[in-house]
Amino acid sequence: MAGDPAATGVGSMVSEPTPQPAATAERRASSEARTFPEGFVWGVSTSAPQIEGAAHEDGRRDSIWDVFARHHHHVADGSTSEVAADHYHRYREDIGLMRDLGAAVYRFSIAWPRVVPTGVGSVNPAGLDFYDRLVDELLAAGIEPWACLYHWDLPQSLADLGGWRWRGLVDAFEYYARVVAERLGDRVKTWLVLNEASTFTVNGYLLGTHAPGVRGMFAFMRAVHTANLVQGRAIQVLRASGCERVGSALAMNPIHPASDDEHDHLAADRIDQFAHRIFLDPVMLGEYPPAAQRLLKMADVRLGDMEAIHQPFDFIGANVYRHFHVAYDPRVPIAKAREIVHPNPEAEWTAMGWEVAPWAMTTVIAKLCSDYRVPVAITENGAAYDDVVEEDGSIHDARRTRFLARHIERLHQAVSEGAQVFGYLVWSLLDNWEWAEGYRRRFGLVHVDFDTQERRLKDSYHFFAKVIRENGLDRSWDDG
Ligand code: GCO
Repeated sequence: MAGDPAATGVGSMVSEPTPQPAATAERRASSEARTFPEGFVWGVSTSAPQIEGAAHEDGRRDSIWDVFARHHHHVADGSTSEVAADHYHRYREDIGLMRDLGAAVYRFSIAWPRVVPTGVGSVNPAGLDFYDRLVDELLAAGIEPWACLYHWDLPQSLADLGGWRWRGLVDAFEYYARVVAERLGDRVKTWLVLNEASTFTVNGYLLGTHAPGVRGMFAFMRAVHTANLVQGRAIQVLRASGCERVGSALAMNPIHPASDDEHDHLAADRIDQFAHRIFLDPVMLGEYPPAAQRLLKMADVRLGDMEAIHQPFDFIGANVYRHFHVAYDPRVPIAKAREIVHPNPEAEWTAMGWEVAPWAMTTVIAKLCSDYRVPVAITENGAAYDDVVEEDGSIHDARRTRFLARHIERLHQAVSEGAQVFGYLVWSLLDNWEWAEGYRRRFGLVHVDFDTQERRLKDSYHFFAKVIRENGLDRSWDDG
């Protein structure tokens, strides 16, 4: 998850109990076998705007991220995703990497501005053809495609009309979803509608740190409601087209109260409502959570909307990266909460500045299973570190490998306790364009040299290939 929602009072899930010291929890988990149930699904995730490149080829038009990166210098290294990992031209090679990895599933996203370049109006056949070839190539390699319809690349022409604040987006998205489902629905059976609605609404419409760079509570609430409506409509379209399983991927990062003080507990609960429940409750339960109710006047909620939104997922995709600590702060409008750095001398941090918190995995899974009662797939988990390419081309990314092992260990714990979690996808196959961070943050199992586009396998790739082969973690990870 690229956002930092809790920093401003809109963040993630409240977790009970507070995190256990790593050593104790890991020792307990390690006494159990680490094999996963037969049929457990392993794979990798990517997104179109972060890897495809070819941003203006074959009829693709600007997305909000092209414009944001180009004109506003909002990206840390001043880069754009014009070329990215050039996956548009190298997808066959990249599918080869996934096949050799042993991935059963590949989750990718479809670029709206490639398929319907102006958002409304005519379909771009060349854009659709690309995904058609991609899906065929995946199936030929024995990899199941999971397609996500929206990973933040809104056509710029729709942003000019108001973007996610504009209700007309619901019809535009329905049209796009229908076009894609008609073309790919015979082969793609698992669909995700939105990726991290909390991140693109918080960062894009409340804080302005992500495209399209809008700020304000009013814009945020409008965007939230449009996202929920879009999702409800798209689920109906996908179901009518015969898909087998539909959900969305949500940023799920536990929120811990900073202390036992009741104010901190209430603050953490409010953040949980604004970051998680504001997207999960409407689709799963048909209502907004209490903290959002009093802001709904800003959101233009109309008669019939909640019924349209209430189209319960077949599964929930959880993107798990980190956790947050939140304290009560009356100076922060509405949420009255702010993120604090919890004093923990043993804490480890990734290059994104995110605390490594493997216990987030068990917390998130338990909470989703108990609150919403549908199966869960971990649709993203991974870490950015500053990798070093050795002279012989090897990359010993021990910290990423350890990060993955510790999270898989916790995932195993959840599975063995009976949680209905059926898959785990690493973010990400390739180093890519990390939004406002540009190319300076590397999340890949595969290193990409952005000058030559050469791919190099990191140690974490070999580690994950072994996990997949053995359908579990070997005992060498027993002591964390
Ligand atoms: C997200 C997105 C990814 C990010 C990844 C690392 O979760 O923010 O799905 O596009 O690249 O999470 O920030």
